[in-house]
Amino acid sequence: MMNKPIIFALPGNEALAHSLIVSLKAEKGEAEIRRFPDGESYIKVKSDLTDKDAILVCTLHQPDDKLLSLYFFCNTLKDFGAKKITLIAPYLAYMRQDKLFNPGECITSELFAKLISSLVDKLITIDPHLHRRTGLDEIYSIPTQVLHVATLISLWIKENLTNAVLIGPDSESEQWVSAVAKAADSKYLILEKTRRSDNEVTIKVPEVVQPDLHTPVLVDDIISTGITMAETIKQLIKTGYRSPVCIGVHGIFATNAYERLLKSGADRVITTNTIPHPTNQIAIDELIRTALQ
Ligand code: R5P
Repeated sequence: MMNKPIIFALPGNEALAHSLIVSLKAEKGEAEIRRFPDGESYIKVKSDLTDKDAILVCTLHQPDDKLLSLYFFCNTLKDFGAKKITLIAPYLAYMRQDKLFNPGECITSELFAKLISSLVDKLITIDPHLHRRTGLDEIYSIPTQVLHVATLISLWIKENLTNAVLIGPDSESEQWVSAVAKAADSKYLILEKTRRSDNEVTIKVPEVVQPDLHTPVLVDDIISTGITMAETIKQLIKTGYRSPVCIGVHGIFATNAYERLLKSGADRVITTNTIPHPTNQIAIDELIRTALQ
């Protein structure tokens, strides 16, 4: 482990930072981060950083609102003596625009990776949306460490559900659904999704004999608008399944996504705490602590 790291939280990340400070017996980084009335940022690092390795906890949903503070903060840490900065971003944004879908588009995942690589020395994250990429090192030029929650999710399923059948809404989800199913000793089913626009998807559910015998557990990496899961829930119920339990690794819950899932017939919605939300029931703290040791 690094020598006595000092751990800072960007606003909204205090709970995870606190848990890491306690479990690692690390120093709590003191800083003032606030906005002026005109919306500009004020940053002041109060801790002595001379020759210290800094760990910065900042999950990156709604990234555009956070990037400038992150840029100012990382540069200030370095200006005041931090030897090395490790960014803990349990949710890593901008992973989905990973190719040119239409001429003229920006491949944001590449530029975002370039920017983060210029700010910190190492990145630790949880299950990033690696769809067409085999690893973060394809776009990040700093060392990266990817942690996986499949075992934690399967443990939650084993402890809380009986006769679960895991369901992934699309081929992209197969990588995590199959890993969770394997660890939970459950069967799994991957559906066919066609995304028509940001707000419209169609899902095809195959006919299954006696679907109501199982507890359907929908598993996906990201719940953003909730449209993928909501549409899947509706189709599953139409096919004769019971109300599914919905598990998302990263619960972004854009606008009314959570209410949308409950209205569509979800039995319950469960997420990990990569993004703080009332649905957090699977804690990633220990996973990160171990990675830092
Ligand atoms: C797809 O690429 C992802 O794995 C998720 O299925 C998707 O991001 C969910 O988005 P939404 O909640 O907006 O349908």
